[in-house]
Formats: sequence, C-alpha cells, structure tokens
Amino acid sequence: MRLDRFLVESSIGTRQKVRDYVKAGLIKVNGKITIEPSIDVSEETDVIKYKDVIVELGKKRYYMFHKPGGCVTARTDSNCKTVMDYFSKENMEGIFHVGRLDKDTEGLLLFTNDGEFNKRLMSPEEDVKKTYFFWALGSLNDKEKELLEKGIYISKDEAITKPAKIEVVHEGIWKEFKSQLQVVKFYKAKGNNEKQSVVAGYLTISEGRKHQVKRMLKAVGCYVIYLKRVSIGELKLDEDLMQGEYRELKEDEIKLLMKDHYNE
Ligand code: URA
Repeated sequence: MRLDRFLVESSIGTRQKVRDYVKAGLIKVNGKITIEPSIDVSEETDVIKYKDVIVELGKKRYYMFHKPGGCVTARTDSNCKTVMDYFSKENMEGIFHVGRLDKDTEGLLLFTNDGEFNKRLMSPEEDVKKTYFFWALGSLNDKEKELLEKGIYISKDEAITKPAKIEVVHEGIWKEFKSQLQVVKFYKAKGNNEKQSVVAGYLTISEGRKHQVKRMLKAVGCYVIYLKRVSIGELKLDEDLMQGEYRELKEDEIKLLMKDHYNE
C-alpha cells in the first residue's frame, strides 16, 4: 500500500496533512527518513514511524476526557471553544466524541475512532447506563422520585422516559451547602439565594435524549444549576484528570465498556 494511504488509514492525518508530514521529514520507513509519499510500504514487514513513534495501521484509539463547563461538544464552532480545542492536534484525525454533553455540563466524555464502540455506548437498545451528579433548585418528595424512576413525560411529543435511578444525597436550603455550591458557575441567582431550597443527587439514565437530565428534573419541579457526568456503564470518571485533561483508556476499561456487547 502507498505510504500516504497507510498513514491516513492509521489516523495520522488527512491525505494532505500526511503528505506534508512526509515532505517535512517526520516519517521514517525502516529507520530512514523518506520524503516520497507515494512509495509502496508493507504493513506486515516495514516499520513506519511518525516523529519516532511506531505507527500501527488502523489502530483503534479511545480517550477519556474531563469536560469543563463552557465548551461545546463539537469538532468546530465559530463562536465558542469546543471540546476538540483541549486535544493536541496530532493523531486526532478520525477521532470523534461519543455522544454529547451540554455546554454547561462537566464530566466524563469519551472519544474514539471506533464506530462499533460508539454504537455500543450510544444505541438506546444497548441500555448503557450513564450517571450524572446534579445540584438543582427545588426539592424531591417520594412521589417525584418514584416518577423519575418509573418513567415520566418530559414533553408532549415524546415517549415516557425509560426506567431510571435517583439517589438524593443533599437536601435543604442554599445557605447550608454554600461551600459545595461553589461548583455552580453557570447560574446567576436573581436575588438572595440563602433560603432557596436545593437538592443534590445522582440520576442514572440509559437514554440520551437532548437535555434529558435537566428535562426530567424540570418535570418534577427542579431546576438544574449544576450537572456533571460521573460514569458511563461501569467506567467512572478518573478524578485524577483535571478539567480539560484527557488520557487514553486502559485495556481493561475498554473491555469493561464492551463486555456485554460481544457476549450477547
Ligand atoms: N442531560 C442533560 O440535561 N444534559 C447533559 O449534558 C447530559 C444529559
């Protein structure tokens, strides 16, 4: 196969970019710099390096990202910072985000170039659970929690939500939780918040409708002021990752996410 094709299929860059890399002397074939993108290489016997790192043909890539609030989940945006702006530009060709988080939502977002992995995590039939930690204005009684768990109408044109799980961890007034509420960055109170009822908890859902957590909580009278995705399936956000940082998923983490997929 041609060297430039090999590099494109290994997600090093677009056709144009990889040709530029070759011409810039960044590619070695069997230890020697080559500046000819059209030469034939063998994916079985030749050792091809980009910036001195071995390139593996068609290598699947998986990343965990700690999304900060304030950036949009998109590859490009003319007005706003995107999640892609946090990644180094190299080796990101063909990499896409798995699902979306709202601009003000923080937390676990996965990236890959593996379509099967994306399907596994995003198809509603796969029933992969996603857990969100929230702070909301309002309160939740037993009846409202039961509604959230059993299924609730969040708009007149949509089906009832699938069964979910709610766990309330804090309930009271703003004043009592002032220090924890410092995480709230994208909500501006109209007046004095001190006596406002607030509730915090975890909501686990297995669908990915637009603004689903916010809309489910709104349907029971709660207004979400902070939202963070903390897990997808059995994979938890690595709390050692600072906001805006990413790392490759480990082999066992990928297996954890894919496990029921191949066993079915
Ligand atoms: N539900 C929401 O409302 N927002 C998100 O970003 C994710 C789930």
